[in-house]
Amino acid sequence: MIMSAPVEREGSPLAPAQASPPAPRRKGTLLIVDDEEGPRLSLKLIFKDDYEVLLAEDGPSAIQLAQEHRIDVAILDIRMAGMSGIEVLERLKYVDPGIEVVMMTAFETTDTIRQAMRLRACDYINKPFDLATVRAAVANAMQRRTLEGEFHNNAERLQELLNELQNQKIEEQMAQTRGEIYASIIHDINGPLTVISGFVQLMNQRIGNASRLEVEDLEFIKDRLKTITRQVTNCIEISRRYLSFLRRRADDAPRVGVNQLLTDLHHLVRVHPSKQQNEFVIRPLLQDIAVRMNGTDLIQVLLNLAVNGFQCSAQPHLVEIEAAVLAAALDLRTFKDGPQERFLNVENFANTAPLLKLSVRDTGPGIPPEVLPRIFQPYFTTKSGRQGTGLGLNIVQRLVREAQAALHVRTDPGQGTCFTVYLPAVYLPD
Ligand SMILES: Nc1ncnc2c1ncn2[C@@H]1O[C@H](COP(=O)(O)OP(=O)(O)O)[C@@H](O)[C@H]1O
Ligand SMILES: [Mg+2]
Repeated sequence: MIMSAPVEREGSPLAPAQASPPAPRRKGTLLIVDDEEGPRLSLKLIFKDDYEVLLAEDGPSAIQLAQEHRIDVAILDIRMAGMSGIEVLERLKYVDPGIEVVMMTAFETTDTIRQAMRLRACDYINKPFDLATVRAAVANAMQRRTLEGEFHNNAERLQELLNELQNQKIEEQMAQTRGEIYASIIHDINGPLTVISGFVQLMNQRIGNASRLEVEDLEFIKDRLKTITRQVTNCIEISRRYLSFLRRRADDAPRVGVNQLLTDLHHLVRVHPSKQQNEFVIRPLLQDIAVRMNGTDLIQVLLNLAVNGFQCSAQPHLVEIEAAVLAAALDLRTFKDGPQERFLNVENFANTAPLLKLSVRDTGPGIPPEVLPRIFQPYFTTKSGRQGTGLGLNIVQRLVREAQAALHVRTDPGQGTCFTVYLPAVYLPD
């Protein structure tokens, strides 16, 4: 095998040939595969300062090296004893499709070269080759490999950004619902405050500038004061609840009484635009119980499910929320995903009694089996632009997971759907 000997000054790398593209920033790894020692060592000498150089004397050891290292570029002799260069090329591409391969050819037919190109060799050089050509070919191949890596990184980064954006959208949506819930609580305080201010005005009018009071005046004032006291207590209650909703950390998560929460939800749903002509029923607990979950989060879960219940059909129908206490843990083996059923967060579910079971049932059209597997995906919606964001159930799923609760959905096409949340609960002191 003939090749021109490289000329190299002691201690310094060869100056790049004029035609070569700029050397890559990272030190790439170059694999040299030739069954003859002469060219192997000469090539190593040319490239040892620019790249990490690995040598292989036959196909199998080349493939093994590629399995053990990240190879950027391989220079591959097309004619070798044993495994042919074409076969090695094919196998290398199989190990890592990104490896750039430069074939070394001597007297091959154009057919063989064409075959190598079809197998995605990036270049070929004829033996004997001159220094500038072999350097340019390898530098080119290195650059292709780096660009490919960068492209890959950019694609990954893009995906990360998309995920971030998606999380932000979901947070935004959650904050919006939370705002709605708070607004409704503040609205609740407005009622008693109006009564209080009205009664204070009445008393002022009655007493005016009088220096002494008649018996009837006293009776009048006492009576109004009773009402005012009741309304003030009301306000304090509401603000206390509001404050307890705001506490966020899990370890001091408030023990929210479920029935109070259902009452709040009732106020909220009554005025919700999606309710329309539909019937809405809440069946509270006979004996109240508390859950260790942020109150607004639980209202948010139930509100999202109820709104879906209302929106599932344009025909007037029923949406019903029912609360029940289970005195024993669930037998999880009975819950299986199927064409009409889904069970979520079984892995993280704190399945200890007592459990609170909250079902949101509708008498709508149900969920078709081809839609069911997709309903929890973010942005999945079957609704028109203004009604659906596709985030509702994804938010429900997140909050359920955070609370170590479980979620079950059962749907009967033509008859309706029932979403059930199971939550670890705490008995309230008598
Ligand atoms: N109670 C239900 N009845 C029928 N389909 C439902 C019901 N709840 C959810 N879905 C389906 O799941 C999809 C996703 O719901 P969701 O995540 O809340 O987003 P959105 O309500 O914005 O569409 C809905 O578009 C609908 O197809
Ligand atoms: Mg929804």
